[in-house]
Amino acid sequence: MDLKETLLKYGFHFESDTDTEVIPKLAKFVHDSLNEDLGSDGGDKQLEGAYALIFKSPYYPNELVACKRGSPLLLGVKETGDMRTDINVESDLSAEGHHGKPKEYYLASDANAIVEHTRRVLVIEDNEVVHMKDGAVHIFKSDSDKSRRLLRPASVQRGLSTLEMEVEQIRKGNFEHFMQKEIHEQPDSLTMTMRGRLIRGGEQKAKGILLGGLKDHLKTMRRSRRILFIGCGTSYNAALAARPVVEELSGIPVTMEIASDLLDRQGPIYREDTAIFVSQSGETADTLQALEYAKSNGALCVGITNTVGSAIARGTHCGIHLNAGCEIGVASTKAYTSQIAVIVMLALALGDDSLSTQQRPNAIMDNLYNLPSKVRDVLKLDKDMKELAALLMDEQSLLVFGRGYNYATALECALKVKEVSLMHAEGIVAGEMKHGPLALVDETLPIIVIATRDASLNKQQSVIQQLKARKGRLIVMCTEGDAEFMCPDRTCRIIEVPKVHDCLQPIINIVPLQLLAYHLTVFRGFNVDQPRNLAKSVTTQ
Ligand code: G6P
Repeated sequence: MDLKETLLKYGFHFESDTDTEVIPKLAKFVHDSLNEDLGSDGGDKQLEGAYALIFKSPYYPNELVACKRGSPLLLGVKETGDMRTDINVESDLSAEGHHGKPKEYYLASDANAIVEHTRRVLVIEDNEVVHMKDGAVHIFKSDSDKSRRLLRPASVQRGLSTLEMEVEQIRKGNFEHFMQKEIHEQPDSLTMTMRGRLIRGGEQKAKGILLGGLKDHLKTMRRSRRILFIGCGTSYNAALAARPVVEELSGIPVTMEIASDLLDRQGPIYREDTAIFVSQSGETADTLQALEYAKSNGALCVGITNTVGSAIARGTHCGIHLNAGCEIGVASTKAYTSQIAVIVMLALALGDDSLSTQQRPNAIMDNLYNLPSKVRDVLKLDKDMKELAALLMDEQSLLVFGRGYNYATALECALKVKEVSLMHAEGIVAGEMKHGPLALVDETLPIIVIATRDASLNKQQSVIQQLKARKGRLIVMCTEGDAEFMCPDRTCRIIEVPKVHDCLQPIINIVPLQLLAYHLTVFRGFNVDQPRNLAKSVTTQ
């Protein structure tokens, strides 16, 4: 607002209410008033908040300038011929490299946009300015001292990194939409997430969990007084789904924090805490800021992200990558199930060293092995979910009741339905039913009740009875073979899912609900992969 007011005073006109429009106008203003005093400060020092910008101007033909703060920016470098691993940016990023090979450069905020051209990238850091002129690239570091306005050439010695992804990952293949593809990829993405981390045991090796990124920090984590899970949206829900097993196996109290709410409250965080940041993109501004906050309070900070080299991966003390492959649909699906799997593995790793001798951890590990094939089974419900979506497509609203391990499943189902199909949906912890939501129940409002077998089955049965007594229109998700038992009068629609260990059941249960959200969206005619008003990674606060 301050900048806009100044620019208005200088006669600039604005066509929109977006803050983005201020930036090119500010650049024009700086250009027009360029004098000794302003030096070569491109104006970016006057900006607050997170941004990644690329400038192109008719005043400077054949030049591009890019800079960033907070938001991601990658420089892709494509050269023909042999590639060296370590490149000194200052001397080597010229149009004609050392071998005289022509180069092409790409600037983007996401690796997905670059990978089809090149896998060699340089991650641009805050306060760096990329200047491209006549095919050559130079990188400058702007002085962080605000009183000094000069840019000095950065001596950037870091090498280019190589993107670990395949071009196929950013294509839809035989699917209509990325969300659909990513839902169906889950047997594979879960396999990738667990690869090399689940030790089967046998002649030489003990059964166990190997999380290389945590190896120097597990002891500290086990000694911590509290574990905080911090995230936004689906990532928060994934941590919530895995919270019970972390509490159970580690014996450490677990607190859940929505990143923005933690920041709003400036909630207390201590040196004895372990703060775990869960983020698919690793770039979400709220989560990133909560990380800075937790770090400044001395907590051990652990990252769980799907993006190698992301701000959260770089800013945490240690972490676990999801390895789920790149997720393009704005509504997160495969990252969600991989996040839960990773946190379950973390819970096992935090538990006693003698894992394999204990019955429950042992059973969880066996179930993790079989998880991809169970997910493959549950994906067979696709047709049923499409039918259900056809029935529900004109509804105004949908309630989802879950509890215990599947409280998060209820929240995540409602989030998926809301964000992609634009239908109002609410996830409710079933224990709260009598404290308000029951008033909504009538014969028209569709209600999904998640009642798969675990310690809270009896309670969920009683919820079903109470909802039936109010003529509720029920869709019951139950364990295979339980249909008759859950709804003897056959008045409910049933979704039967394969049984796995209770703490892994949320991974199975969410799959048909993701399919439901997907088909609802297609029937309702909305954009599946880019729902209105939403972004894949929210890099502004
Ligand atoms: C955005 C996306 C959500 C996502 C959330 C957190 O709101 O639309 O799908 O769950 O950000 O993103 P992250 O990358 O931190 O997991």
